[in-house]
Amino acid sequence: MTRPGDVAGRDGAAPLPVAVLISGDGSNLQALIDAQQAGELPIDIRVVVSNRGDAFGLTRAERAGIQTRVLSHREFPTRSAYDAALALLLGGFEPGLVVLAGFMRILTPELVASFHGRMLNIHPSLLPRYPGLHTHQRALDAGDTEHGATVHFVTDELDGGPGLLQARVPVLPGDDAERLAARVLAQEHRIYPLAVHWFATGRLCLGADGQAMLDGAPLTAPVQIDAVAPTPADRAG
Ligand code: GRF
Repeated sequence: MTRPGDVAGRDGAAPLPVAVLISGDGSNLQALIDAQQAGELPIDIRVVVSNRGDAFGLTRAERAGIQTRVLSHREFPTRSAYDAALALLLGGFEPGLVVLAGFMRILTPELVASFHGRMLNIHPSLLPRYPGLHTHQRALDAGDTEHGATVHFVTDELDGGPGLLQARVPVLPGDDAERLAARVLAQEHRIYPLAVHWFATGRLCLGADGQAMLDGAPLTAPVQIDAVAPTPADRAG
C-alpha cells in the first residue's frame, strides 16, 4: 500500500516493506514513522509487532494507521516456540527488512537466519562496548567520557553484528543513567532512520562473507555521526 509521503526507494522501486518489532515506548518507531510521513524514508511499515500488549509503541502505530500485532512470549513454552511463531507472523507480511526497535528479547539463531541480512537493531552503546543491558549505568561506572548508540545488522551474536552507524554523545558532569539515556536516545532518533534509508535505497547490504557493504565498498567500521549540536535532552538537564 502506498501512502501520502511515500517516496520511491531502490532505483525508483516501490517503498521497502518493513516490519518493526517493539517492546515498549516505541520512540525509535516514531522516528521512522515521522521520517516516512515527511517523505524522507521510502518504506512501508506493514506491521508493528510487540511481545507486550501494553507497549506504548502500539498506540503510536495505530495513530499512524499501521497494523499491529501482539505476540506475547508468555503464551509459549519455549524461546524457540515463540520465535518460530514470530517468524511465521512476520513472514506473512513479506518484509524486506525487519527493524528491531527496543524489542527486548534475545533471538534464536533460527529466527535470525530467517531474516539474514534483512534485520537491523539499534543498541544504546558504542558497540562493541557494553552489549546487553544497563548500558548507560555501565558507561558511567567505567568513567567513560563519551557514550552513544549503534545501528547494526543482527547476527547470532547478541549485539554483535556488523556495526553500520554510530552517534556519540558526551558524558557530562552530574549525569545519571536517566539523563545519559535521554541524550543517547535523541541521537538514536537521528541515526536509525538514516541507516534504514541506506538499506531501503539499496546503498546498504550484508555481503556473502558477513561484511556490511555501503555503496559497494566494505564497511570496516561504523560510520560516525557526531552530536555536534546540543539536543533538547542536553538543555533539559
Ligand atoms: C532504545 O534505547 C534502544 O536503543 C534500545 O531500547 C530503547 C528503545 O526505546 N534497544 P524506544 O522504545 O524506541 O523508545
